[in-house]
Amino acid sequence: MSAKIIDGKAFAETVRGKVAVHVARLKADHGITPGLAVVLVGEDPASQVYVRNKGKQTLECGMNSFEHKLDASTGEAELLALIERLNNDPAVHGILVQLPLPKHLNEDLVINAIAPDKDVDGFHISNVGRLGTGQKSMVPCTPLGCLMLLRDHLGSLSGLNAVVVGRSNIVGKPMANLLLKDSCTVTIAHSRTREIEAVCRAADIVVAAVGRPEMIRGDWIRPGATVIDVGINRVAAPDKGEGKTRIVGDVHFESASAVAGAITPVPGGVGPMTIACLLANTVTACCRANGLAEPEGLTA
Ligand code: GUN
Repeated sequence: MSAKIIDGKAFAETVRGKVAVHVARLKADHGITPGLAVVLVGEDPASQVYVRNKGKQTLECGMNSFEHKLDASTGEAELLALIERLNNDPAVHGILVQLPLPKHLNEDLVINAIAPDKDVDGFHISNVGRLGTGQKSMVPCTPLGCLMLLRDHLGSLSGLNAVVVGRSNIVGKPMANLLLKDSCTVTIAHSRTREIEAVCRAADIVVAAVGRPEMIRGDWIRPGATVIDVGINRVAAPDKGEGKTRIVGDVHFESASAVAGAITPVPGGVGPMTIACLLANTVTACCRANGLAEPEGLTA
């Protein structure tokens, strides 16, 4: 069997299109333009690329983008003062502080200083608790993107066995909560899980978010299962020339795609969904802040 390839790039484009339509409606009917503030501390090259892409896509959807680039030596008090200003700014509906922060800054303290209703990353402890108890919350972007792809491919997820490989606060744990909310039977597997291959083989859905290149192989996958690969790992590619690299997922694509029913590629699978869901969360936050109806199909 050869798996259907789940095209995250195309789906992300559809999500951005829906966001743009809703933004245009907010402007025309209510005179409101959603605004996203992104805070970057320091010069980490990967973070600079992410922040640039976020800003570009925010503008392309018709929203306002506010970028705050701070020196790597910025102190906690200064960063917290900026967040407080953004919390109180009515033109800002979403706030994202790019992670990782420089070591001298306490990430938990900074994230929990963001107003929960503007926390478009869904990392604030209040949103984590709300998601865990099934209350309305802001949902972390990458797991939300995975959920959208799964619902689009499978329809109802009710009663399916889902295995999430990886227990991070950013992906693994919120992903498990979202799958549970959609009535899956959920297992979280991790580095200490016994017989992890057999655990994965029992799954109708495997979400791989461990950060270990090509760890999950075809013989871990049940025939026909749906495989969502969150991994983005840069590895050496000597076949492309000396010193060359390539990006691979946490799933060994060649062997897994021979067994799975459907699979996300890397790149072009989950990756593009993250920013699309950030834009969706910003519109959702804007609608909630103004007591307006939320866009259909863009939240969990
Ligand atoms: N750094 C890498 N991914 C993310 C993300 O989704 N949100 C934030 N705030 N920082 C990140």
